[in-house]
Amino acid sequence: MIRLVSHIDAEELFKLVDENRAYLRRWLPWLDHNKTLDDTREFIKTSLRDYAEQGSMIHVVEDAGRVCGICGFDSINRTIKAGFIGYWISQQSQGKGLITMACGALETLGFDRLGLHKLEIHIAQENVSSRAVAERLNYQNTGTILDAEWLYDHYVNHVIYCKLNPEGAS
Ligand SMILES: CC(C)(COP(=O)(O)OP(=O)(O)OC[C@H]1O[C@@H](n2cnc3c(N)ncnc32)[C@H](O)[C@@H]1OP(=O)(O)O)[C@@H](O)C(=O)NCCC(=O)NCCS
Repeated sequence: MIRLVSHIDAEELFKLVDENRAYLRRWLPWLDHNKTLDDTREFIKTSLRDYAEQGSMIHVVEDAGRVCGICGFDSINRTIKAGFIGYWISQQSQGKGLITMACGALETLGFDRLGLHKLEIHIAQENVSSRAVAERLNYQNTGTILDAEWLYDHYVNHVIYCKLNPEGAS
């Protein structure tokens, strides 16, 4: 299940990041900006402030009552009613369908509750596991942006996966 991130998640979330540092670093650019518990506290504070301003919506993913990852709308563009999805899950909790399920919940939230028109997931071209999530959920591959992200010492291309609200434009 997913629920909105909260200040009480700081310690559990930091421990999870710390235990999964090398694994997460392969595809996520922020590991060097999250080295202490205070960095995680700051991340949660910023996430909740952005949520209050309707600019993002970050959730924790839970499995059997334990936080095992993060998913959410990293940003929301209110003008074009678009939500940009991001996620990660601990190495131990991979392979159980938790992120596919979490993205399904985000889809319901985005389309039915927030009234979004479009969801996008931007994924590094070589990130096979993440592309499998988008493809399993029938997102459309709409193209590639070259050198879209700098990952510590190299650029990666992004594949842009998109899903439009089946109810049409609103
Ligand atoms: C990308 C990432 C979230 C994918 O995690 P994942 O566990 O493979 O994704 P899901 O939770 O959707 O699980 C799918 C896997 O569970 C299996 N599975 C089991 N039950 C399932 C179910 N009910 N529904 C869907 N899949 C299920 C699938 O077969 C698949 O396994 P496979 O990879 O062996 O084929 C994870 O690898 C990760 O966090 N990587 C590091 C950070 C990252 O890359 N983030 C994304 C940046 S765009």
